[in-house]
Amino acid sequence: MALRPTVYIETYGCQMNVSDTELMLGKLTASGYESVEQPDGADVILINTCAIRDHAEQRVIGRLGEIKSKMKRDAVLGVTGCMAQRLGSQLLDRVKHVSLVIGPDGYRELPSLIESARGGVKATAVDFDLEEHYEDFTPRRFDGVKAWIPVQRGCDYKCTYCIVPTTRGPERSRQLSEVVRETEAVIASGISEVVLLGQTVNSYYDGKHDFADLLRAVGSVPGIRRLRFTSPHPNDFSERVIRAMAEIEAFCEHVHLPMQSGSTRTLRRMLRRYTREKYLECVDRLRAAIPRLALTTDVIVGFPGETEEDFQETLTAIEAVGFDDAYTFKFSLRDGTPATRFPASDTISDDVASERLARLIATVRAGSRERNMGLIGARREVLVEKSARRGGLLQSRTRDFKTVMIPGDVSLIGKYLQVELTGTTGSTFLGQVVGQRAALPMAV
Ligand code: SAH
Ligand code: SF4
Ligand code: F3S
Repeated sequence: MALRPTVYIETYGCQMNVSDTELMLGKLTASGYESVEQPDGADVILINTCAIRDHAEQRVIGRLGEIKSKMKRDAVLGVTGCMAQRLGSQLLDRVKHVSLVIGPDGYRELPSLIESARGGVKATAVDFDLEEHYEDFTPRRFDGVKAWIPVQRGCDYKCTYCIVPTTRGPERSRQLSEVVRETEAVIASGISEVVLLGQTVNSYYDGKHDFADLLRAVGSVPGIRRLRFTSPHPNDFSERVIRAMAEIEAFCEHVHLPMQSGSTRTLRRMLRRYTREKYLECVDRLRAAIPRLALTTDVIVGFPGETEEDFQETLTAIEAVGFDDAYTFKFSLRDGTPATRFPASDTISDDVASERLARLIATVRAGSRERNMGLIGARREVLVEKSARRGGLLQSRTRDFKTVMIPGDVSLIGKYLQVELTGTTGSTFLGQVVGQRAALPMAV
């Protein structure tokens, strides 16, 4: 029997890209490819890329150079994802050993384009397809404990710093019934935690159902134990959605709520469509409905025209909210985004941005350390996710998204345990197991 051709996919960027890689691998393995863990000697190598910051693209360019030395002579190298969409055929010119450039809506063509490329025909596929949700693909999931389920593709906001609307196209939502079908399939496979994915996931609308309907439908699939979503936009939290979150038992007490800035002036220039006050009000509404809600966020520093005063407002907003954690970024100017039209005099120097970033990180850390210290001695239910890199421990997670390291062996992965939080590094916890919940039948 002839050996099956092998495919290796390396993924950069957000969970949406990870989810797309799962779809691509599903499609390719169904088309006769064997998935391998290393690029060395693979017949097909795909790099699924991110374009969100310049640094993300530079990493990919560097990686494409490294991959060249690992490629066998007749291997096909393809670039997929957001950078592929952004640069299109330019990538074929710039990196000669790349033969395929395929954007996020072009993965249906993968098997045929790879076939042609193996015959020496290079190709670019970067058209948007507003109908495309890859409903007939069966994703090949990497994570055996939680399932990432895309419910929306693209983005209709136009935040002035952001490349995503360019790389992922207009917003479109999957049909609720398809999301429920996929949820039922992952539950039947033994996974009990589901994370719904979209760029502004709470603006979900399939023509008939809004995000509240979707949450209720997914949250009532038998066997679901944990339900999360990422990332919501602060403007799309209707009362219906918040009520659904509060009422669904599986919904976990954590929301990642990107703030970007605490200065109304900066938020306006970012075209985020909310003010500092509106953001804080959204936090209050969520907390009033969901006691013990943990909040994390994204913040950008050094946005064009950001003054020290604006930055101070970001720091005070962070303190006012009391985030559990935050992803912090230095602004990166992306070609083709509206932010390129700010006058050069608005540019914040790298020194100033770096210095603000350091102060921002210190503020975030101080706040989360204080919150986490207050949790020592508390009991929580955790789901064991994987082996930790450190000394024989397991990494587990609470419903409110705290990472807890616990002793135990790999047979506990995928199990729910009761733990007492016994220590914290400030960000992650050490825990002692105090009980195990009876296992539910795998398929319900
Ligand atoms: N759709 C999500 C964000 C996706 S991008 C949302 O609206 O919240 C993830 C994060 O990257 C953003 O929240 C933002 O903080 C950051 N980001 C996006 N573009 C950036 C840029 N040009 N420079 C620096 N950070 C950026
Ligand atoms: Fe980018 Fe804004 Fe859309 Fe998020 S909401 S993906 S930050 S344009
Ligand atoms: Fe990056 Fe594209 Fe996600 S730009 S952050 S991989 S949507």
